[in-house]
This record gives sequence, structure tokens and C-alpha cells, in this order.
Amino acid sequence: MLELFPAGFEETARFDVVELAGYADAAAETALRAAGLGPVSVTLVEAGWEDRWREFHRPASVGGLWIGPPWETPEPGLIPVVIDPGRAFGTGAHATTRLCLELLQEQAPGSLLDVGCGSGVLAIAAALLGFGPVLGVDDDPLAIEVTLENATVNGVAGRVEARLVDARGGALPAAGLALANVSLSVVEAVAPLIVADRLIASGYLDRDTPELAGWRPLARRTCDGWAADLFERIQA
Ligand SMILES: C[S@@+](CC[C@H](N)C(=O)[O-])C[C@H]1O[C@@H](n2cnc3c(N)ncnc32)[C@H](O)[C@@H]1O
Repeated sequence: MLELFPAGFEETARFDVVELAGYADAAAETALRAAGLGPVSVTLVEAGWEDRWREFHRPASVGGLWIGPPWETPEPGLIPVVIDPGRAFGTGAHATTRLCLELLQEQAPGSLLDVGCGSGVLAIAAALLGFGPVLGVDDDPLAIEVTLENATVNGVAGRVEARLVDARGGALPAAGLALANVSLSVVEAVAPLIVADRLIASGYLDRDTPELAGWRPLARRTCDGWAADLFERIQA
């Protein structure tokens, strides 16, 4: 299948039969029949199918920020944060990301640590809002690569650093504000290791309330069943 459809193919059924779909022209159909892999059926698809996935990636406005893919035009008057949705997690459209962006815009700019930076959307938005220095960490190498690429695209390459770190392993640099849009279990594991005055945490449902030793909750936002919380470090 990879030889016949080098751009990729799709597995459309997974029970007692495996059905594979390749999108190609009539020449590939002839080659597929000749390959004798099994019964072949042909369905015509509408022109433009190659780009149809783009319709699922709509821009989002959060306060003074516009977050959108490179093929959309930013809304005038808003700060554009351009994120290519093709790769690491984080197009900006997810409720947890939007809630973090809301809380972020209410904080005074200063140094910032983004735990679980994904595509870099929060770190890049922070740099564009005047936060600095900004460090994103993630335990996925693709996220580091994509964060640095997106920082360049958004003109903040010199102000956003990204490092491959499992945040549960500690050794996180101190910052004025930390963001952690990860998951409930990672937020609870990482919060005691974060050295910051304030923490914006998300990545969990609004029925979940993280219990973070050393942190006092200040505000909570919810959207579409998800929650984000702003915490303040309890001074010893
Ligand atoms: C839900 S995504 C959020 C991405 C981005 N911050 C956003 O708001 O769109 C969570 C990210 O956290 C990363 N992550 C999960 N556990 C981690 C850990 N222990 N240390 C560092 N990164 C982690 C994942 O690889 C993923 O990129």
C-alpha cells in the first residue's frame, strides 16, 4: 500500500475485515488491482479533498489575541498567534488552552515557564504579550521542535526557549508565572516542583479540583466542561 500510495492511506474498518482506502488517480487503481491485495472498489471523491481537513481548524479569539492557522487572515486589532495545526498538540482552539490564555492576559508580564508547551501556543502568546524570558518544556521531542519553529514564524524566536524535560523529574527553573496545561495527574505531580509566584493550571475537567500543596487557589474558569485554575504560592 505504501508503494502504491506514498502520500499515505487510511484504515477504515477494523473488525473481521481490514479495509484500506487510498486517495489517488485511475493509474493507482489499475496498479492496486494488479497487486492482488484483495477486492478493490472505487468511489469518486469531490475535488478539493486534499485541503478539506483545513476546515476543521478555525481561528479563535481570546481577549486581545487571535490564534489561527497560517492560511487564515488575523482579525484586525488583535495580536496574531499563528500556529500550524499539522504537528504537536495545541492549535489554540481547545477549551483548556483558551482558558489558560484568558487567565494569562490578566497577569502582569514577567518571566514565564510553560510546562507541557506542545505546539508552543501559550509560550508564544506570552512572549507576544510582553512576558520574558519565556521557557517552554515538554517531554515530547516533537513539541520542542514545533515550539521553536512556531516561535520563529511568530517573530519571537529570540525570546522563547524550549527544552526537552520530563517536568516530573524536577529541576524546573524559577519564573514569576508558570503555566501547566497538562493533565490532572501531571499538574498534581509537577506543582510541588514549580518555583513561581503564580501558577495557571489546566488540562482537567470542571468536576476535578486539584489539591496542590503549597498553592492557594485564586480563580477558576470553566468552558465546555473543562477547567483552568489560577494559584498563588503560599509564602512559608
Ligand atoms: C494538553 S497538551 C497542551 C499543549 C499546550 N500547552 C496547549 O495549551 O495547547 C499537554 C502537553 O504536555 C506534555 N506533557 C505531558 N506530560 C509531561 C511531562 N511529564 N513533562 C513535560 N511535558 C509533558 C505533552 O507532551 C503535551 O505536549
